Amino acid sequence: MNQRNNHRLILFPLPFQGHINPMLQLGRILYARGFSITILHTNFNAPDPSSHPHFAFRSIADGLDQSKASKSDIPGLISLLNTLCVSPFEECLREMMSLQGGEAVPVACLISDSLFSFTCGVAERLKVRALMLRTGCATCLYLYTICPVLKEKYFPIHDSRLQETVKEFPPLLVRDIPAMDSQEPGLMFRLVDDLIKTIKSSPGVIFNTFEELEHPAIASLREVLSVPFFPIGPSHKFCVTSSSSSLLAEDRSCISWLDEQPPKSVIYVSFGSLAAMSEAEILEIALGLACSEQPFLWVVRPGSVCDPEWPEKSPSRFLEALEGRGKIVKWAPQNEVLAHPAVGAFWTHNGWNSTVESISEGVPMLCMPCFADQGVNARYVSDVWRIGVNLNGGLERENIARAIKRLLVEREGEEIRERALVLKEKASACVRQGGSSYQALDALVSHILSSE
Ligand code: UDX
Repeated sequence: MNQRNNHRLILFPLPFQGHINPMLQLGRILYARGFSITILHTNFNAPDPSSHPHFAFRSIADGLDQSKASKSDIPGLISLLNTLCVSPFEECLREMMSLQGGEAVPVACLISDSLFSFTCGVAERLKVRALMLRTGCATCLYLYTICPVLKEKYFPIHDSRLQETVKEFPPLLVRDIPAMDSQEPGLMFRLVDDLIKTIKSSPGVIFNTFEELEHPAIASLREVLSVPFFPIGPSHKFCVTSSSSSLLAEDRSCISWLDEQPPKSVIYVSFGSLAAMSEAEILEIALGLACSEQPFLWVVRPGSVCDPEWPEKSPSRFLEALEGRGKIVKWAPQNEVLAHPAVGAFWTHNGWNSTVESISEGVPMLCMPCFADQGVNARYVSDVWRIGVNLNGGLERENIARAIKRLLVEREGEEIRERALVLKEKASACVRQGGSSYQALDALVSHILSSE
C-alpha cells in the first residue's frame, strides 16, 4: 500500500480553511496510494508543513497585500488571487517540471482547486494535466450549470420572493440560491462562469461527496459536462490517522469537557472559518443557547465577531451564569468533536466540509446557512436527506432554544437521528473496499497513471 510509485502529484489548494482541508486530505489519500505529494501554496494562509511530514511544500510569492485584502469580499479575494498567482505559479511549476530529468520524482499531474481557474492555461502551456478538486457539493455545481437562467429569472433577489420554490431546481427556495457579497457587481456570476468553463475543460474532477448521497446530481453532471467525475468522499474517512490542517490552534480542552457530558446531550455550535456575526447576533445566539437549557460547545473564532474584545469579556460572565453548562473555544478539533458520544446535534452554517463531516458521524444538524453554496447544502440536509432542521423564523433567542430542543429533546429529533445514522452507515460503507468512493478512488488512480 505504502510503496512509492515513482510519480509526483502537485496539489494547489485555494488558501481558505474549507478548501485546504479537503485538498490535504486528498494528498494523504493519494500518498497512501503510493504517490509523492508536493503542496504548492500561497504565502497567504499557508498550511503548516510540520503537520504533514510526508509531503513536500513549496510556497509561491502571491504578492497579496493582506492589509488591503478584504475578507468580507471573498469573491474579490478569489479573483485577486487568480490574477496575482499566475506568474509565480507558472514559474514555480516550470522549475519543478524542469527537474524531471534529474533525481526528482517526475510530475504525473497537477490537482488544482477548481476556483483557481488560471491553472488550466498554465498547465496547458507546460503540457501537464490539471485535474480539479471541487470542494463544494455536486448538487451545487449542477445548479451552477443553470446559473444564466437563475440570473435572468431571479436576480436581483427581492425579499418578497424568498420563500418561492425555484421551479428549475426543487426543493430549492429562492432564498437558497447561492449569493455572495462583493464590491464588484456581478463578480460572483463571473467566478461561476469561470468555474464551469474550468471544469468543462478539465480531464477530471474530484469531489468530496459520495454516490449514495448525491447520485442524481453526479449523474446529471456527467451527462451535462461530459467530464470524468470522481466522488471519493467523505475523504477524511479514508485517512486512518488524524492530522490537522487547521490554520488556527485547536483547543483540545473541549474534548475533556465533552467527556464530562451525558451521551447525545451537547449541541456543538460552529459556523466555519469565514462567516462573521454582528454583536447583536452573537448576543442572540448566547441567549438562545442559555434558553435551550442544553449543554453546548461553541466555537467563537477570532474575527467572527465584530467586537474584537469578544469573547474575552462577555462570555466568561455569561458562562459563569450558566454554571459550566457551556464551553466556548476559539477553534475546535471538529472531526473529533463530531465523533464524540456526548455530541447530540450540530448547529452549523452548512459549509460543505462541515456538512459532510456531520453526515459521516450521524449528527443531526440545525442549519443556518450564511452565504454561497451553504443555502443549497442546508436545503438538502433539511428537505432531501431529512437529517436536520432549518432555523426558520430567524436568529431570535426563543426560536433558537425551540430548534435546539426539537433536535435534542423531542421525538422529532430521535427520528432525525435515526435517518442520520442510516446515512452515516452509507458514508462508512462507501470508503470500505468495494464501496462507491473506494472504487472512484481506484478509478482516479488509474486515470492519473493512464495519462503517462
Ligand atoms: C468555505 C465555504 O463556506 C463552504 O461553503 C465551502 O463549501 C467551502 O469553503 P467554511 O465556511 O470554512 O468553508 O466551512 P466548511 O466548509 O465547513 O469548512 C470549515 C472546516 O474547518 C471544516 O473542515 C471543519 O472541520 C474545520 N473546523 C471548523 C475546525 O477544524 N475547527 C473549528 O472549530 C471549526
